[in-house]
Amino acid sequence: MNERVKIMDGAVSPAPANMRKVFVKTYGCQMNVYDSQRMADALGADGYVETASLDDADMVLLNTCHIREKAAEKVYSELGRLRKLRDERQASGSDMLIGVAGCVAQAEGEEIIRRAPVVDFVIGPQTYHRLPQVVSRARRGDKVVETDYAIEDKFDKLPERDVRQLRARGVTAFLTVQEGCDKFCTFCVVPYTRGAEVSRPVTQIVAEARKLAESGVREVTLLGQNVNAWHGESPDGSEWGLGRLLRELAEIDGLDRLRYTTSHPRDMDEDLIAAHRDLGALMPYLHLPVQAGSDRILKAMNRKHTGDEYRRLVDRIRAARPDIALSGDFIVGFPGETDVDFEDTMRLIADIGYAQAFSFKYSPRPGTPGADLKDQVPEQVKNERLYRLQSLLGKQQADFMNGLIGKTISVLLEKPGREPGQIVGRSPWLQPAVCDENVGKIGDIVSVRITRTSANSLIADNRKVDTEA
Ligand code: SAH
Ligand code: SF4
Ligand code: F3S
Repeated sequence: MNERVKIMDGAVSPAPANMRKVFVKTYGCQMNVYDSQRMADALGADGYVETASLDDADMVLLNTCHIREKAAEKVYSELGRLRKLRDERQASGSDMLIGVAGCVAQAEGEEIIRRAPVVDFVIGPQTYHRLPQVVSRARRGDKVVETDYAIEDKFDKLPERDVRQLRARGVTAFLTVQEGCDKFCTFCVVPYTRGAEVSRPVTQIVAEARKLAESGVREVTLLGQNVNAWHGESPDGSEWGLGRLLRELAEIDGLDRLRYTTSHPRDMDEDLIAAHRDLGALMPYLHLPVQAGSDRILKAMNRKHTGDEYRRLVDRIRAARPDIALSGDFIVGFPGETDVDFEDTMRLIADIGYAQAFSFKYSPRPGTPGADLKDQVPEQVKNERLYRLQSLLGKQQADFMNGLIGKTISVLLEKPGREPGQIVGRSPWLQPAVCDENVGKIGDIVSVRITRTSANSLIADNRKVDTEA
């Protein structure tokens, strides 16, 4: 799961003047994007409406990420800016509430209020259903820190998703099916910030997916930090894995495209691989992070598989779905990583061939075993390795996209383009595809012929080829 997804622009409708307004800013991964929507919905039931502008906000909610040091520090610089804004407000006789949610909230708790007294409340990811109570206490002037892992299921307690709200949010949607992580990779904070692995029940997921479809959503991405470890009891009492769940969701009218992220290589079971062979709705794109190619480093990271096991797994997935594109996450400069280890990672990347990837310099995180290891790699070495790794991955990405030139592909039309006369859709492999607006309307899945590429987009200059739906 990558932490580059920003909350979608333009998803917020203008607020009626008499309602309180909340400005939600989302950092981190797709799970935070999903949570932000659920929090906005919970606050909606409490009389708040979302605003896209800080200037008229009565409340600011930062949904934060703790994955790397830079991600966590961003929050404090934002809080510095908000302090100034709040001072100005108070000078002119009005005020605003400031809340911190997400993984920094869970990891740092009260420390946030100590370091940034401008913050009124801190709420961890497992307690969002308590948000309205927390806000009302904060409005009365209490400083509130709510970071206990709740025993009750937050999804059960959050208000049901509202069809009108969903409609405003577009034709693609996230749906969290699994939370937390029990894997404890030695570099990673997620098991501490999100807690133990929990799967949402089948009935809850299917009901939410139906509602999304009713609201015009055509592509759903199932989310979890270990989404392919999802398992649940089916209506007939049998135990389902993610492959079976996908088969069920593929039956829902209107849900034409399914994806899931992020998967761990160790949880790719036979049935899930077979679902890629059997389900047309399951998009031929898989984010399957490997982090490193050296067996010694993989072991030190506690990934519990080798480079060759990953290669063989990819072979099996490609045998089931030959047009599948792979994406991955990589960390350079994990403690003890030598030049030889790094070359193993480069070799693995060359062997696999990625359509897309996210790569990071190792960032020691407080409380994780990796942070205490000797042999931390110097920054300069990390920079050099990241540069080489990203050059190779960048070339693979360009090759993949250029390989689509001249091909006719299916595109889900999502939003108007930047230039007049354009409409932007999404390819099966997640690239934006810029099309001529006459190819169809938002929500249509159309076939277009790719004529060229730009840095990150596919471009179809031509007119409609054929409409599938
Ligand atoms: N659950 C996902 C990963 C979630 S974190 C998985 O197991 O693949 C997203 C990515 O951030 C990770 O895949 C990893 O590449 C990166 N990451 C996590 N902790 C990091 C750290 N301490 N330093 C640098 N990158 C890190
Ligand atoms: Fe972090 Fe590893 Fe869990 Fe992914 S599987 S969330 S990298 S501990
Ligand atoms: Fe960041 Fe938390 Fe997601 S640490 S990557 S927001 S699970």
